[in-house]
Amino acid sequence: MTGVAAEPTVSEQLDWWRDAVVYQIYPRSFADTSGDGVGDLQGVVQHLDYLSWLGVDAIWLSPIFRSPMADFGYDISDHCDIDPLFGTLQDAQDLVSEAHRRGIKVLFDVVLGHTSDRHPWFQESRFSRENPYRDWYVWRDGPTPGSAAGGPPNNWEAGFPQGAPAWTFDEFTGQWYLHSHLPEQPDLNWENPEVAEAQEKVLRFWCDRGIDGVRLDSINRLGKDPDFRDNVDGEPLRQQDWPSLHPRLQQVRRVLEEYPGRVAVGEVYLFDQRQLVPYLAEDELHLAHNFVFARSTFGAADIAGVLREFWSLVPDPARAAWFLNNHDEPRARSRFDLDDGRGLARAELLAVLLLTLPGTVFLYQGEELGLADTPLPAELQTDRNHRDAQRTPIPWRPPTTAGEGAGFSTARPWLPVGPDADQVNVHTQQGDPDSTLHLYLRLVELRRDIRGGGAQSTELVTPDVLVLRQQIPTGSRVTVLNFADAPRSIPNADDSRPHRLLLSTDRQRTQFATGVGQLHVGPLEGLIVQFDREPQN
Ligand code: GLC
Repeated sequence: MTGVAAEPTVSEQLDWWRDAVVYQIYPRSFADTSGDGVGDLQGVVQHLDYLSWLGVDAIWLSPIFRSPMADFGYDISDHCDIDPLFGTLQDAQDLVSEAHRRGIKVLFDVVLGHTSDRHPWFQESRFSRENPYRDWYVWRDGPTPGSAAGGPPNNWEAGFPQGAPAWTFDEFTGQWYLHSHLPEQPDLNWENPEVAEAQEKVLRFWCDRGIDGVRLDSINRLGKDPDFRDNVDGEPLRQQDWPSLHPRLQQVRRVLEEYPGRVAVGEVYLFDQRQLVPYLAEDELHLAHNFVFARSTFGAADIAGVLREFWSLVPDPARAAWFLNNHDEPRARSRFDLDDGRGLARAELLAVLLLTLPGTVFLYQGEELGLADTPLPAELQTDRNHRDAQRTPIPWRPPTTAGEGAGFSTARPWLPVGPDADQVNVHTQQGDPDSTLHLYLRLVELRRDIRGGGAQSTELVTPDVLVLRQQIPTGSRVTVLNFADAPRSIPNADDSRPHRLLLSTDRQRTQFATGVGQLHVGPLEGLIVQFDREPQN
């Protein structure tokens, strides 16, 4: 019998990343197998079954390349090797193949715009003004050539320490070099085509090893005013988001296109959604992380405003990259605690929203447990930009003694696990159907049905309640989100239609309809209801 290949379903025809869930791993804090208190690649391999159970489509790993760790891996000294702290090239290869065996895609974090000051390119560059690598970085004279007197070449500021000059004077050759971040992270000179060529090789190196895509760090810094004019108060910064970066992104995209199915998501660190649009041109990024959404205030109207604006600017909703947490931002549970201790309820409500939106969703490790920021005394803090609290290790099981690694490590962890690790840990929550972890599990599962989904409409029913309606192949779904801290009643025209309550953040709720044309939603409650398509006669 000759087999006839089945027609691919609509979902199978879509790019794999469309409406997918990508889980961000911060490898230092995920799982330690070498016993040094720092997470590593084999730690990720050993917990792939957990990620597969959770149902994520892909993982994105923060940088694992050779690095002096001034910025915990975002300062790379060799793009094509793994830092021994995390393992070896073979471990990276194992990770990719073990993830693929489970149907999980892998994204690496690629830093195109800067390197470590220990990178051989920069070592050469700073060696002499005549060195062939001199022009790989950005060197300039200040007002007094050959001397630091008079200050840096212009008033550009580094991302951190916030407000510090973006220039450091290098005594050896008597010029200033540019760094958008720490002085240990000199900016590459993207005006020089050799730099682009070298970074294209890096992309090919990893694509050849089977990764499925890249997260492009600080990508809005790839183009700067070539005349180095001062920033002017009230005007867009001249040290980023310069139009020259778009042909550079097109070139990056062309390299990725050599490898079918690869995706590029950019960290476009800009705070006006209109600025995202050019990055999402057909021949540039597939996806751009949306910081306006991530930083939105907690309120139905505010969030609806952000969503509506995005959908009007970028008509294909699949091009969104929504997230609420990452390794740089305070965790949602803490951010939305608002001094009333209800941060977890707010974070869960936002999770219902996040995992219902069309587009690609990014979760940050530990968010699925409802992890809070870990308060750390000054002497335990390691990051010069104060981001340790959201980077503490994943508790895999309850700790048996204080200070112990809670399944993250057999040694003392590089940062302590949170003080509530006896409850907020994977093992305990896997065994509790009412846990935050089970809520995420169900949300990820329900998300499969909206893949490639049709029309999306957001309604603001009262000032506090947000309603999203979605068409799905088997009918329609309605998500109701009450942002108020008090119960609300909203008109419910659907009351008598056949439906199923799929999920509620109120673990006691068993039904949706009241039979009186009103829906009562509890304080900070989020729920999802499905209306099945009525049978056709
Ligand atoms: C990005 C990373 C951040 C890093 C910075 C400099 O914003 O997310 O962690 O410090 O780039 O590379």
